[in-house]
This record gives sequence, structure tokens and C-alpha cells, in this order.
Amino acid sequence: MNSVAAIAHPNIALIKYWGKRDEVLHLPMTTSLSLTLREFPTTTKVTVRPDSTTDRVTFAGAPAPAAFAAPVSRFLELVRGRTGDRRYAVVDTVNTVPTGAGLASSAAGFAALALAAATAYGLDLDRAALSRLARRGSGSAARSVFGGFAVWWRGVGAGAAGDLSSFAEPIDAPLLDPALVVALVDTREKAVSSREAMRRTMATSPFYPPWVAESARDLDRMRAALREGDLATVGEIAEANALGMHATMLGARPAVRYFAPGTLRVLDLVLELRAAGVGAWATMDAGPNVKVLCDSRDSAVVAAAVAEVAGGAERIVVTTAGPGAVLSDSGER
Ligand code: PMV
Repeated sequence: MNSVAAIAHPNIALIKYWGKRDEVLHLPMTTSLSLTLREFPTTTKVTVRPDSTTDRVTFAGAPAPAAFAAPVSRFLELVRGRTGDRRYAVVDTVNTVPTGAGLASSAAGFAALALAAATAYGLDLDRAALSRLARRGSGSAARSVFGGFAVWWRGVGAGAAGDLSSFAEPIDAPLLDPALVVALVDTREKAVSSREAMRRTMATSPFYPPWVAESARDLDRMRAALREGDLATVGEIAEANALGMHATMLGARPAVRYFAPGTLRVLDLVLELRAAGVGAWATMDAGPNVKVLCDSRDSAVVAAAVAEVAGGAERIVVTTAGPGAVLSDSGER
């Protein structure tokens, strides 16, 4: 029996991935850029079982619902297809991210699964190849392979050429020490999945093509700001890029709206903080929760203010840059 465990963390995009140009290969329309978090680790253990006639997927030890188990099993098929090893596996995932709340639980989950499964089935992958594999589970997982800031290239061309050229890489930003204050406005499962919301936006929103064009400019400007250690510019671009993404969704027919009343309270607060001279910028994903980017030195001040409007200290999480996916010694080989 070959048992391997891996740990990965969610990432929050500062330049968003929104829209696929290939739904099977998970090739994105745009290049995105993210920060991997220190909080909310996912640990995934893959045990290859010569005696099993099917994959068995558990969630913190209990049988996982089909909506969780089926994509995991499809992912293992992909790995098995590359090795020729037909043995099935037991996969156990322990997730500390509130699932389905726009906090990228799938990113941490598939980054950990990619590393654990590749290792358990004996695939020897470099980090770029691991990122490409994680991408096949969930697009944003390509970025959680790396710690700190990472850029996930949209890639060029279709099919195999697109697959080969679409992976994430780390970005050095030695002058920055960022923090994110996550406001947990609502952690219930979202009504519209990001997959469906992306599809509908691309198919029906007149605001989608201009956002895609602007995103390429956002990327160039943000990479320069990261190099220069200019957090204010990074934050301004991140906020504009995220609100622009939500604008594309509001323009879809029917509209996809993830804003909740609590979302607007946090967005208002961010404007007030900036007016008062505190560097704080908001970003949001496919859910109502707001992540507020600031310098680590300001995180206590920002966290106290966000907690007040979000309904108390238990509704916020303060996090900083975290590590990439790593093997954990809780597996036995
Ligand atoms: O990887 P998915 O399908 O969960 O897509 C997530 C997309 C956003 O979180 C909204 C943006 C991003 O770049 O992470």
C-alpha cells in the first residue's frame, strides 16, 4: 500500500480568473495573479489500494457526497491515464475552508490532491507540470501549488499547446509584506456555481470582452507594482479588477449577483478607511465575502474596523502570505 499526504492552502486572486476558453482542459481566457494564504489548509491523503475495485473518497473520514467524490475520481483517472497504473485509491480530505463560500476551497483541495496523487502513483513532476495537473482539477488550483504571489498564464493556442503553456509560476515581491482580512459575510453554499456563472457571463454579458481586454493591462501594471513594492497600486488594481469582474456578472442575462447587504457594508468601510489614510483595498470572488488587502503593519487596525461592520471578531480571519503545496509526513510510504 502506498499512502501519501499533501497540504495546500487557498489563494485569493488579485487579478481574477473568470471564464474558460477550454472547459475540459480548464484553459482560462485571461492570465490571473494571486496571493496564497497562510490560513485554511487542506490536507489530502491518497492511498493506492491493489485490492479496491473502485475509488473511495472520504471527507474528514466520512463518505464524501457525490458532488465532491466524482470530480476527485475523474482527477485520479487523469493521473492513472498518465502512468498506466490501473489501481484504485482511497482519498481522504480534511478541509478547513468554509466550502463553497468564494474562498477557493477547490484551489487548496486540488493542489493538495495533485501533489498527493502524483506522488502516490509515482509521477515525477516539476512544479510547472504539477501546476498544470492541478489546473485540470480546478483552474485556480494551478496557483495554490506556489506560495506567496503567483501568476497563472492563460497559455497560447488550443489543445495540447494550450495545455502545455498554461501553468502558474511564483512572483518575487521582496519589498511587500501583505495581509488579507477576510470578512465572512455569509458562508452558506452559493446559489450559482462559479462554473455556471462564468459560462453565463461569457455567453451573455456585453461587459465581458472589455473586462478581458482591461485585465491584460491590469496584469502588466500589477507585475510592475509588485516589483517596486508599491502596495497602493497593487490594491487599486486588485479592487478595480474584482469589481469589474462582478460588473460582467451583473451584465449577464439573467444577472449573477453575489453581493449581499453585508458585502456592501464592508466595501463602504474600505472607502472610509482609505479616506482616513489607511491603505486598504477590497477584492471578492464568486461569493459575498470580502477580502481586504492591506500591509501587515496595518492589519490590526483594518481587522478591528472590519470586525465591527462584519458582526464581530468571529466573522473575520486575518491572514498573510502562505506556503505552496508540500508533502506531509502523515502519509506512510
Ligand atoms: O477555480 P474555480 O472554478 O473555483 O474559479 C474561481 C474563480 C474566482 O475565484 C472567482 C477568481 C479566481 O481567480 O480565483
